[in-house]
Amino acid sequence: MDDIFRKIEAHTQQVRVSPWTGTFRDYLPLVLAQPKLAQLAHARIYDMVRAAGVDVDDQGQEHYHFFARELFGIDEALAKVVEYLKAAALGSDVGKRILMLYGPPSSGKSQLVILLKRGLETYTHTDAGAVYAIADCPQHENPLHLIPHPLRQEFLDTYGVYIEGELCPGCALHLRDTYERDIYRVPVRRIFFSEKERLGIGTFVPSDPKSQDISELVGSLDLATVGEYGTESDPRAYRFDGELNIANRGMVEFIEMLKADERFLYILLTLTQEKNIKTGRFSLIYADECVIAHTNEAEFKEFLADKKSEALQDRMIMVQMPYNLKVSAEVKIYEKLLQRASLGPLHVAPHALEVAAMFAVLSRLEAPKQAGLTLVKKLRLYDGQEVEGFRQKDLKLIKAQTEREGMDGISPRFVINRLSSSLIRPNTRCINPIDVLRALKDGFDSHGTFTREEREKCDHLIADVRREYDEIAKTDVQKAFFVSFEQEALTLLDNYLDHVEAYLDDKKLVDPLTEEERDPDEKLMRAIEEKVKVPESGKEAFRNEIFRKVAMAQRRGEHFDYTTHEKLKEAIEKQLFEERRDTIKLTVSTRNPDPEQLRKLNEVVDTLVRKEGYCSECANELLKYVSSLLAREK
Ligand SMILES: Nc1ncnc2c1ncn2[C@@H]1O[C@H](COP(=O)(O)OP(=O)(O)O)[C@@H](O)[C@H]1O
Ligand SMILES: [Mg+2]
Ligand SMILES: [Zn+2]
Ligand SMILES: [Zn+2]
Repeated sequence: MDDIFRKIEAHTQQVRVSPWTGTFRDYLPLVLAQPKLAQLAHARIYDMVRAAGVDVDDQGQEHYHFFARELFGIDEALAKVVEYLKAAALGSDVGKRILMLYGPPSSGKSQLVILLKRGLETYTHTDAGAVYAIADCPQHENPLHLIPHPLRQEFLDTYGVYIEGELCPGCALHLRDTYERDIYRVPVRRIFFSEKERLGIGTFVPSDPKSQDISELVGSLDLATVGEYGTESDPRAYRFDGELNIANRGMVEFIEMLKADERFLYILLTLTQEKNIKTGRFSLIYADECVIAHTNEAEFKEFLADKKSEALQDRMIMVQMPYNLKVSAEVKIYEKLLQRASLGPLHVAPHALEVAAMFAVLSRLEAPKQAGLTLVKKLRLYDGQEVEGFRQKDLKLIKAQTEREGMDGISPRFVINRLSSSLIRPNTRCINPIDVLRALKDGFDSHGTFTREEREKCDHLIADVRREYDEIAKTDVQKAFFVSFEQEALTLLDNYLDHVEAYLDDKKLVDPLTEEERDPDEKLMRAIEEKVKVPESGKEAFRNEIFRKVAMAQRRGEHFDYTTHEKLKEAIEKQLFEERRDTIKLTVSTRNPDPEQLRKLNEVVDTLVRKEGYCSECANELLKYVSSLLAREK
C-alpha cells in the first residue's frame, strides 16, 4: 500500500512542476541554455518516443518501449511511424506531409494516436519535454517568434537555435499596442499539453460534410465583438480556437480523415505543406504541428483510385497498420482488453486465450507458397518457433511472398466480443479452450455478416486449432503425470545415457544380469530422439552435445540434471508417455478408479492446479477431454 502512496506523491510532484511565468527577457537565457525548448513539434514527439528506450533485435528491427505496454506484435508498422517522425524531426520535407495510418478495423490505429497524445501530456511535464509559449497567445505560440528576422541567422550560428514562423495577428497587435514594440516585455509561460484543455493537442472528427463548419478547424469570427472593433480583420474580433489553432506546437489527430469534405482536406494540406493556417480575413498564420490521420482501408482504396486526390496523395506518408501476426502477442492483446473488462472471479483456463489467438492469427495469414509449409507451421514460425524444414531466417522470404497479409481476417475486437458475450455469464466460473472455440464458431454461424465461404474457412481453421490444442492438452496431462513418474524418467534417462556412451566410444554394453555383451540399442536411442525431431543425420551431434553436458556436470562433481536440457527433457517425457500411455489412458478414462488410480488422478489434478495455472474445474475438464482423445486413438 505504501507503494501506491509513494507513486501518487511522485506523480503529484511531477505535475506540480512550477508553472513558470516571466517575460521574454527572462525566457531568453532559459532557451539559450537549453535550445531543445525551441524544438519544433515533430522533433519533440520523436524525442519523446526515443526517450522511453529502444531495443534493437538480431534482425536490426527497432522496438520502442514507448509503445510496448499497449501495442503488441506490430513493431514493423511502429518503426515506420517512428521513421516518419525522425525524418521530420531532422527537418526533411517529410515533416511537410500528413502521416496517414490505414488498416483494417481494430488494428490499433486509434490506440497508437492515443499513446502519442497521452505521452505528450506527460512529456511536457518533464524537463526534457518542457514547452514555453507567449502567455496570452491563443495558439500558445513559440516566444522566439518575437526575434526579428535579421537576428535569426545569428541565433542559429551562435546558439544553434533555429527559428521559423511569424507572430500571429493577435500577438503582433499586442506587441505593437500593449507592449509598445518592446519584445522583452511580452509575457511568457510554461505550458503543459492537455487534450481536455485543448492545449497542444487537437482532434477532428468528420461529421455530415454539408453541415460541418470549417470553423471547427480554423476558428471563427466572434460576432459579438465585431461591432466593438469595427472590422472583421481585427484579430480581437476573431476566435483562434479551431482544432488546428489549439494544436499548435503539438499534434492534431484526424479521425476517419477521408470521410471529411474536400475543403477540410485542403486546409490540412496547406497546413502541412506551408505550415500555415488560412484563417478568415487574415494573412496566413504560422503553425507547427504534427498531423496524424487515420482511415479504414476501403475508403483509403477509393481515395487512391480517385484521380482528383492525387495532389493530396503526394503529400501524405502512408503507413499500413495491419493486424498483429504473432500468437503470443495476440494473447497479450486479449489479456489487456480482458483486464479492462473486469472479469471478477472468473477463471480463464490455460490455453483458452491461446486457442483464440491461434484462430485469429490463422484467419489473417495468407496461404504459404513454399512447398512443405502449412498454415499452422507458418503460424508457429511467425511466433518465433522452429518448425521442421524452416528456420527463422526463412521468414524474410516467406513474408516477401505475401501480398496483403494482416490486412484481412478476424480482429481482436471480434474475439473479445465473442468471449464476453457468450462466455462471461453470472454462473460461469471458468472458461476453457473448448468453450472458446465453440464461442468463436457460434459467432460465425450466428452473425449474418459472414458469407458461406467465410464460414467454411472458419470451420477449417477451428479444426486446425483444435488439432493443435489436442496436442497441447495431452502434453499438459502428460507433464502432470510425470510428477509421479519421476523415478521412471530417471531410469529411462540413465538407460539412454548408457547406450549413448557406448555408441560414442564404440564399445559394447554388458548386461548386468547375464553379463552378456551387446551392441548399443539404436532403436531405443532413435525412439527417444525422434520424439524431438532429431533427424538421423543429426543424431551424432545431438548425442555428442548431451554427452559433453554429462561430462561437464561430472567434472564439477554434480549429477547431470536432464530437466535443464529442454529438448532432452521433452524427449524423455514423450517417450515415457508413449510407454505408459496405456496406464495413463486407463487411469484417466476409468469410471471406477481403484484407490491407487484415484490417488494418481488427484495428484495430477493437484499438479495442474499448483504448477500449470488450472483451477480444479478446468483441470477436471482437461482430464475428461484427454481421456476422450486417448479413447479415440485406439
Ligand atoms: N497490435 C495491438 N496490440 C495491442 N492492442 C491492440 C492491437 N491492435 C488492436 N488493439 C486493441 O484493440 C482495440 C481496438 O483498436 P483501435 O486502436 O481502436 O483500432 P482502430 O482505430 O485501428 O480501428 C484497442 O483497445 C486496441 O488497444
Ligand atoms: Mg479507430
Ligand atoms: Zn500569437
Ligand atoms: Zn479454470
